[in-house]
Amino acid sequence: MKQQHITVTPWAGAMGALVEGADLSQDLPDDVIAEIRQALLDHLVIFFRRQEMTPEQHLAFARRFGTLNLHDQVKGMEDHPEIIEVRKEPQDERNFGGAWHGDVTYMEEPPLGSILYAKEVPPVGGDTLWANQYLAYEELSDGMRAMLDGLTVIHTPAKIYGLQSQDWSKDSSVKTSPNETAEYETEHPLIRTHPETGRKCLAVSGLFTPRLKDMTEEESAPLLDFLMAQATREPFTCRWRWEAGDVAFWDNRCTLHYALNDYHGHRRVMHRVTINGDKPY
Ligand code: SIN
Repeated sequence: MKQQHITVTPWAGAMGALVEGADLSQDLPDDVIAEIRQALLDHLVIFFRRQEMTPEQHLAFARRFGTLNLHDQVKGMEDHPEIIEVRKEPQDERNFGGAWHGDVTYMEEPPLGSILYAKEVPPVGGDTLWANQYLAYEELSDGMRAMLDGLTVIHTPAKIYGLQSQDWSKDSSVKTSPNETAEYETEHPLIRTHPETGRKCLAVSGLFTPRLKDMTEEESAPLLDFLMAQATREPFTCRWRWEAGDVAFWDNRCTLHYALNDYHGHRRVMHRVTINGDKPY
């Protein structure tokens, strides 16, 4: 699709693009939204610079792509429950999202994507990395792909938020404590087909995917460890160095991401809105 309204410049070899020419605080015409959607499908994560959005404008932009997600384990902002404030204070040890994962992939219908808006960033550090899961699948051998097709993987929030999880309520500004509402599992294909592009991709999600269906964690570990290493190989990634006002919009159906925790002693505040998706197949 030829872009008429926005400029799309690739950001890294594997994925990512800088999008210019769109003011996300505005009620953008349908054809501009269609171009942004196409840029997302083509590049998997798209970046916008120097945006000034109120929470209402952030939500309104996200609603152009679907209905909005309410996180089942993390409380949203008081007046805007669909916005998660991803905050790390100078004294906090833990950051939110500091391991490779896809967002809430344990839902029956995991998100289409998330739109992250940088409010306050450290002087250096706090970058986010993404990884292209089409490439992670396509770069496997024919034999491996054939073996993986048709396998089912168990997703669960239990390791991060469940009864045995670490209590981060004191060491983190994103407050979570072990709770039984996270003690559930869902089943999804290990190789999923993107509902819009039709391309296949790898669908593992770090600690949210502890085992394969009908196998123990021990039995699953060698394969899942290999697949997470494959999923996050450096040539499949891109990295964004944030400035306040930047926005990243990623496709959660074909990417993983990782928020680096390398800025102790500084504050970082982001607003995340997540758009609902559909059942993986
Ligand atoms: C997340 O995992 O959604 C947080 C990403 C970030 O803060 O960079």
